[in-house]
Amino acid sequence: MKERNIFLGITGASGVIYGVNILKELHKKGCKTYLSISEWGKELLKYETGLTIEELKKFSHQYFENKNLAAPVSSGSFKLEAVIVAPCSMATLAEIASGYSKSLIGRVADVALKEGRKLILVPRETPLNAIHLQNMLKLSKLGAVILVASPAFYHKPSEIQDLVNFIVGKVLDQLDIKNDLFKRWYGSRCSIK
Ligand SMILES: Cc1cc2nc3c(=O)[nH]c(=O)nc-3n(C[C@H](O)[C@H](O)[C@H](O)COP(=O)(O)O)c2cc1C
Repeated sequence: MKERNIFLGITGASGVIYGVNILKELHKKGCKTYLSISEWGKELLKYETGLTIEELKKFSHQYFENKNLAAPVSSGSFKLEAVIVAPCSMATLAEIASGYSKSLIGRVADVALKEGRKLILVPRETPLNAIHLQNMLKLSKLGAVILVASPAFYHKPSEIQDLVNFIVGKVLDQLDIKNDLFKRWYGSRCSIK
């Protein structure tokens, strides 16, 4: 079976749980994940989930500090199938959109774009200003998937986990990884037919 090498960057936007659960799902599905967490991502991990980096590392194949630009994944010669940044802060979004790759997460995303590899960004911010929107448009035009952390409600979520699973499932769908993380829409119960 083909090895699935996937890089996951977790940055300092609210919703670190999206990144955590994506990592756990990829681990469950037997993917080889390369993980990096920005300094503010680490703060939010502690604050929002209570998890430690050590606990999270166990679900990854290899962990790299975000300042380690000499990590193997920093080079286009390292064969990654896809790059995910979840959650993606507006700061990291701007770094990627500008091409000014000063962090590992920014550099790996930059490489994904230049090598024509799948880049999935899960931005979280609201409201969005014109800079955020322009950065998303620019990256979308370059082929990145802008998978906004905006869960739906048609699957009747009853707990936070259902909302998180919706986004995690959508990310896995992008990677063609079979999942039942959310209820799909199989027809209308609406009154308009
Ligand atoms: C509690 C907290 C919540 C934050 N939530 C967001 C957010 O949802 N979206 C965002 O773009 N930035 C958010 N920020 C700001 C980022 O952490 C900040 O811009 C930081 O520079 C991001 O750096 P990074 O992309 O290297 O992680 C938040 C900061 C804190 C302390």
